[in-house]
This record gives sequence, structure tokens and C-alpha cells, in this order.
Amino acid sequence: MIHIKSKQEIEQIKTACHVVGKILRRLKEYLHPGITTEELDQQAQRLLVQLGAVSAFKGYKGYPANICTSVNEQVVHGIPGKRQLQKGDLASIDVGAKLNGFFGDAAWTFPVGEVSPQALKLLAVAEQALRIGIDQAKPGNHLSDISYAIQTYVESQGFSVVRKFVGHGIGLEMHEDPEIPNFGFPGRGPQLQAGMTLAIEPMVNQGSGDVEILDDQWTAVTKDRRLSAHFEHTICISDTQPEVLTAWE
Ligand code: MF3
Ligand code: CO
Repeated sequence: MIHIKSKQEIEQIKTACHVVGKILRRLKEYLHPGITTEELDQQAQRLLVQLGAVSAFKGYKGYPANICTSVNEQVVHGIPGKRQLQKGDLASIDVGAKLNGFFGDAAWTFPVGEVSPQALKLLAVAEQALRIGIDQAKPGNHLSDISYAIQTYVESQGFSVVRKFVGHGIGLEMHEDPEIPNFGFPGRGPQLQAGMTLAIEPMVNQGSGDVEILDDQWTAVTKDRRLSAHFEHTICISDTQPEVLTAWE
């Protein structure tokens, strides 16, 4: 069942989303060669506390950290650790916050120092895929119009979407109905309505869309070990333009 949020609920979800946005903005400043992903996690923890929120991820199905840090061939759910970022890396930071019982979730992939032209193209396409998906989030459209728009754009640029993970409803829980695949035929699934809050999150691979999970049981990597990028926003559908609640730039 898809929960349609009240005005009051949307206001609360917005405050959680603002925390997420602020943390992404702050973490971006730390993304220099030499920093470990664990240090990023510690900064995230400090900022969450400062903003009166808690990580939506820590403890979720046993997830051990505050944020996810997925570097290069890592697609999503990378666990922060001793790995030092290097010039040329692509670092995805995924932040989820819980504030007063409400949730926000967003992710962004950043270049560390100078990266290859192919890596830059992957970032541009994955970010644009998110925007194209968000553009479809309007009343009257069907859920899979988001999916279809993302997939067709990504494939038209010579990249692949990951099918193993999906976007999701969010708000009173981190994961609510509906699931939002980044692929599919248009015109399927529930009709979208004002008051739906959704986390749209394309994962885009340079090579094949196939992924595997490392022995830590969390980190998803590309099967071919080529690069991947992940962009996510929590949005709210309205009668006019979708509102991006986790905007941070
Ligand atoms: N943004 C991811 C998601 O929506 C992050 C989940 S990490 C987890 O599923 F540890 F909480 F699972
Ligand atoms: Co999410």
C-alpha cells in the first residue's frame, strides 16, 4: 500500500531530508585523496548528532555504519573502512537520516580530484538519469514511467542500469511501497498522486548491469569490475512540479 502523506507529514519528512542534504554538502568538502571512508562515516555521525538526527542505515538489517561509501566498481552499500580515497576515484556517498520519526535518503557520486573523461561521462549520465526520472514523477503518470525514462536514457548513452536494487517509497519508514525499478515498460504500476514521497535512485554501470555482493554481505560491486555511479533524491509529488526534498547543491 502506498501511503499518501498529509501536509504535516510532508513538512516533517522535509526536515529529515534537509538534514540529509546538509550532510552531503558537508561531506563533499572532505572528499580529498587520502581520507578514509571510515573518516567520512565519523564526520557523518558527528553531523547527524549536531542536527538532532540519527542514521537511518545504522542497524538496519544489521548494517554496521552511518552512511554507505561505494568507490569505483562498488555500486551501493559499501561499508566505510580503512580504504583511502585516491585521485581519480569515484566516491558515492549515501546518507539516510531519521528525525522525529521521519526519514530522508539521498546519494551522490563525486569525482575525487581529476578523473578520466569516461568516468566524468558516467557521472553526467547517471545524474541526468536521476533528473529525467524525477521529471516523470507527476500525477497521472504511472510508476513505471519513471523506470522507463531512466532506462531508455541510460542505455541510449551506452551505459547499463542495475536491476538488482530499486528506489522506494519513503517517509514514515525508510523503505515503503512502492518499489521503483530503474528499468521497465512505460504505463505500468500504480498511478502517481500528489502527496507520494519517493526515493528515486538510478545506479548506472559503465559495462554490464550485473552485480555481485562481496563477502562482507553488503558491498555490491559490478561483476565486470568496471565503474558504477549512484544518484538518489527523496522527492515529493505535487500537483505541479515534483519537489526535490534532499536538494543540497
Ligand atoms: N539508499 C539505500 C537504500 O535506500 C541505502 C540503504 S543502506 C542500508 O536502500 F544499510 F540501510 F541498507
Ligand atoms: Co534509498
